[in-house]
Amino acid sequence: MHHYLQIENASMVFDTKNGKFTALAGIDLHMRQGEFVSLIGHSGCGKSTLLNLVAGLNEPTEGVLLLAEKEIKGPGPERGVVFQNHSLLPWLSCYGNVHLAVERVFGASESKRRLRERAMAALELVGLAHAAHKHPHEISGGMKQRVGIARALAMEPKVLLLDEPFGALDALTRASLQDELMRIVRDTAATVIMVTHDVDEAVLLSDRIVMLTNGPAATIGEILEVDLPRPRDRLQLAEDPGYHHLRSQVLAFLYQKQRRPAKAA
Ligand SMILES: Nc1ncnc2c1ncn2[C@@H]1O[C@H](COP(=O)(O)OP(=O)(O)OP(=O)(O)O)[C@@H](O)[C@H]1O
Ligand SMILES: [Mg+2]
Repeated sequence: MHHYLQIENASMVFDTKNGKFTALAGIDLHMRQGEFVSLIGHSGCGKSTLLNLVAGLNEPTEGVLLLAEKEIKGPGPERGVVFQNHSLLPWLSCYGNVHLAVERVFGASESKRRLRERAMAALELVGLAHAAHKHPHEISGGMKQRVGIARALAMEPKVLLLDEPFGALDALTRASLQDELMRIVRDTAATVIMVTHDVDEAVLLSDRIVMLTNGPAATIGEILEVDLPRPRDRLQLAEDPGYHHLRSQVLAFLYQKQRRPAKAA
């Protein structure tokens, strides 16, 4: 049986001025359509590198990645990416940034009015309709992050690749966007890979949590199945022993089995 996303023995070696650097080695991961996987691991282990391989922004030096049985050879509109550094176009407004993506995906088939509605609806979803006309330099880090999320969601991608999408947000905004994301994923059956440092976020949202070992040559250390029933409610989970057990398994991996990488001498 074929999985929707197949990562087969993927390695990533970068050429640096100090020679070759092996970031990832022997990554094997199979995902079914509609699955939500979180990637967790210490800073610098290779989470963004792995996400970039799936996004098609980098090619693995070894191994192969397949989406719906086709080799991933570059970026595509069926994969929406929310970058760690939000990467908005500075000369476009918030609306312009979202609209550009919408136009690329739906421009050939839909009316101008419909494209405008899509862009505004996405900004409303992340609570930024009021800032639609502002440019990236005029908004906060958390707002930029939300524009990046709106841009990816507006494309209605089959695969959502999220690199710490809620990292720069306050706890309340983060919680409400996590709930929105759960609703969207349920409604659209999107397949999601999300990088996060937040153990609670990983358990709340994921079907599986993929834990990476420290680099260099980072690989998958453990995979945790999150078998909590959906829909999930953060308040109910707070009192659920099963939830706390999962949470402590991730913490044990990060802080006992892996440890924080030592500071470079
Ligand atoms: N283009 C590149 N050239 C050389 N080395 C790179 C390149 N991109 C990433 N690396 C190295 O690969 C390793 C993994 O980087 P990556 O950005 O994937 O980590 P990360 O897990 O996303 O970290 P963080 O949690 O801090 O975002 C790091 O040691 C980094 O220095
Ligand atoms: Mg990263």
